[in-house]
Amino acid sequence: MLYLDNASTTWPKPKRVRAAIRDWLDNGGGSPGRGGHAFAQRAGNVVSNTRRALARFFNVPSENRVILCPSATDALNLAFKGFLNEDDHVLISAMEHNSVVRPLRGLARDRRINLEVVPCDTEGRLDPDDVCHRINDQTRLVVVSHASNVTGTVQPVEIIGEQVRARGAFLLVDAAQTAGLLPINFQTFNADLLVFSGHKGLFGLQGTGGLIIGDRISALRPWREGGTGFNSLAEEQPLVWPEAFEAGTPNVPGILSLGEGVAFVAEAGLSALRQQEMERFARLWEGLQELDGITLYGPPPGEGRVPILSFNLKGWEPEDVGNILNHNHGVQVRTGLHCAPLAHRSLGTVPMGTIRLSPNHFTTATEIRQTVAAIRSMAETVLPW
Ligand SMILES: Cc1ncc(COP(=O)(O)O)c(C=O)c1O
Repeated sequence: MLYLDNASTTWPKPKRVRAAIRDWLDNGGGSPGRGGHAFAQRAGNVVSNTRRALARFFNVPSENRVILCPSATDALNLAFKGFLNEDDHVLISAMEHNSVVRPLRGLARDRRINLEVVPCDTEGRLDPDDVCHRINDQTRLVVVSHASNVTGTVQPVEIIGEQVRARGAFLLVDAAQTAGLLPINFQTFNADLLVFSGHKGLFGLQGTGGLIIGDRISALRPWREGGTGFNSLAEEQPLVWPEAFEAGTPNVPGILSLGEGVAFVAEAGLSALRQQEMERFARLWEGLQELDGITLYGPPPGEGRVPILSFNLKGWEPEDVGNILNHNHGVQVRTGLHCAPLAHRSLGTVPMGTIRLSPNHFTTATEIRQTVAAIRSMAETVLPW
């Protein structure tokens, strides 16, 4: 089988990630802060090592501001529910994932915030001036995904962040699709909150992600409370960061895999990985763009995107294309709305969505050729309708 759904979760995982998980299962590990025995200590070390690796990777000066979460979705919920107050005005881009849209729609439905969507062009690009013009005295937070999970379009977040800060608001960047793919220096990024996924470009296992809290933010309410492994006499949630936000036994094997994944990216070099995956992406784009009846979405290969290619074939339902690719050609892709209906409204692809191919640097040139050939055979099929 040929896997082209790395935007959903990356596969394969690097050797060192697989080896670390095997070692954890074979040689034992406990729960951090839950006991003073060797396994508990090992778990504690895993958590602090991964936190330190992430702080270094994103250039965050204080490790306490790196919060480990079970997913990017959980991190987004923590940010929204912990940061926003009654009557805050929140701006989001029209390319956001449902893990941004749904919690905010929920807060707006309960009349706790006012939510406004900033439109994007048909390639999924946001105009920083348009964002700026919509900021008013009540605007507390602007939310932008660094890159769209539908078109791969990268937003000019540094410019947006500069303008947002100048207007006294805060910027949250959803880097689920860019962490590990694009360089992110939190110190110069102009973001106040940064959400990342652990199981995509950082090569950890599913069930990993996190939130980075910038130093313009000094208070955040936990949205999940419970055992933290310390100060057990206290019946209220401890306020110490990062533990205040990490209640419950953490996913230590997942956190271990994330630390190893970050080490893999750091060692291989983000720019070397990017060069390779964008080269594969360009071959895919070039091969597909010649086909009759094909529509490719998002910007062409280049700086302004990550390697996510959405397309449609005239006369074909995306789901049918996905099923034929899977069953007849062994090519695994994602079809439909990709949990981002707003993005599809921007592209004009509601309700059927698109077929999404997301290679990475593990994808081989042969696999790209096979995929193009499989899609060409469908494009050349004379349809009875
Ligand atoms: C842009 C974006 N944000 C958030 C998420 C949610 O990530 P997770 O499923 O890890 O919570 C995804 C997942 O695909 C995504 O693509």
